[in-house]
Amino acid sequence: TIKKVKGHEILDSRGTPTVAATVELSDGSSAWAAVPSGASTGTHEAAELRDGDSGRYHGKGVLKAVHNIDKELAPMLLDMPANDQLTADQTMMALDGTPNKSRLGANAILAVSLALSRAVANSKGVSLFRSLNQLGGYLLPVPMLNILNGGKHAVDSTDFQEFMIMPVGAPTFGEALRMSTEIFHTLKSILRKRWLSTNVGDEGGFAPSLGSNAEALELILQAIEQAGYQPGSDCFLALDAAASELYHDGKYVLEREGRTLTSAELIEFYEKWVADYPIISIEDALFEDDWEGWQLLNTKVGNKVQLVGDDLYVTNIQRLEQGITCRTSNSILIKLNQIGTLSETIAAVDLAHRNDWTTVISHRSGETEDTTIADLAVALGAGQIKTGAPSRGERTCKYNRLLAIEAELGTEARFAGKSAFKHLK
Ligand code: PGA
Ligand code: ZN
Repeated sequence: TIKKVKGHEILDSRGTPTVAATVELSDGSSAWAAVPSGASTGTHEAAELRDGDSGRYHGKGVLKAVHNIDKELAPMLLDMPANDQLTADQTMMALDGTPNKSRLGANAILAVSLALSRAVANSKGVSLFRSLNQLGGYLLPVPMLNILNGGKHAVDSTDFQEFMIMPVGAPTFGEALRMSTEIFHTLKSILRKRWLSTNVGDEGGFAPSLGSNAEALELILQAIEQAGYQPGSDCFLALDAAASELYHDGKYVLEREGRTLTSAELIEFYEKWVADYPIISIEDALFEDDWEGWQLLNTKVGNKVQLVGDDLYVTNIQRLEQGITCRTSNSILIKLNQIGTLSETIAAVDLAHRNDWTTVISHRSGETEDTTIADLAVALGAGQIKTGAPSRGERTCKYNRLLAIEAELGTEARFAGKSAFKHLK
């Protein structure tokens, strides 16, 4: 049973406070978990509770959320069975009582939810990915590495938020990480030769000031080739436009290119890019409530590229159901703190998989050293993980955790590789 639950205020990778929790069980097992925080957050995400007390951390403290863990969640969970994650999560949701967890804070609830799952794994004496596994097999995910950061994650960079690489042709996760890291370092030398900045953005990718979004793709393609790999077979490109951030008064503003596009024009823009570049995945191509635009985009390019909804679905089952019914895309980004419990996160992944949608388990731009998403990706057979460039400790800890899982599994480990995209014609 659950013996002790305690909240903590800690810092994320941007130096902004975030919530962590410790859970202790009656058999003496215990665990800690921490919650990340986004910058380009979706409107429909579960609520992140912040103090708003300008005398501390410019209003961004999380002592209220920590207080809610200690004074409300802890007494409620005391003596409850530890190995019933669903009941624990539902109890916390009921105690909160709001649809978006705004009373106690999704950050408070998620910290406890994750710490509990880790404490249970410790109590069983197994790794978290084994403890959470329901499938039998173990699939190592293809990493989606954000090697060029723009949008809200880097000042004076590109309009689109993330330019990523996916080493789908690698035979193992370890080889995929090596390939990607070589491409990352090659990109650095290409940028340097052109006197472009090689400082990194929030997710560890370079953040040069470029004249257009296409220039970012050209530079990355060059890096893939110069590193000795074949774009379009060894390694593909992936984008996160984070289009909700570009959307103003019914139009999409591409500031760097001095262009303003309608939804239909932006869709044409993507069609051209998909024809011209080896792009395998586009996330948040359109803004979070442009359901018709997404539908149109999906009919035009959905059989060629993975279309990932992040702000569109916010890991929320109801929004995902609407997406499945309306065929707005073919893939969902999974972020634990968008919804606020482990159980709801797993339910969203299951629903997506049952409908032949792909899932990408994702970090946030504000991260911690918590590596839960690495274990979760393997446990659920997600097939893909997005956790930044191979740079900055809060990003590399997830990749390093996957290396450790691969080593622990030995010959049992399978790498998703191209099979992650078998739905694409
Ligand atoms: P965020 O960005 O964590 O700042 O929301 C990540 C993403 O949009 O995928
Ligand atoms: Zn996104």
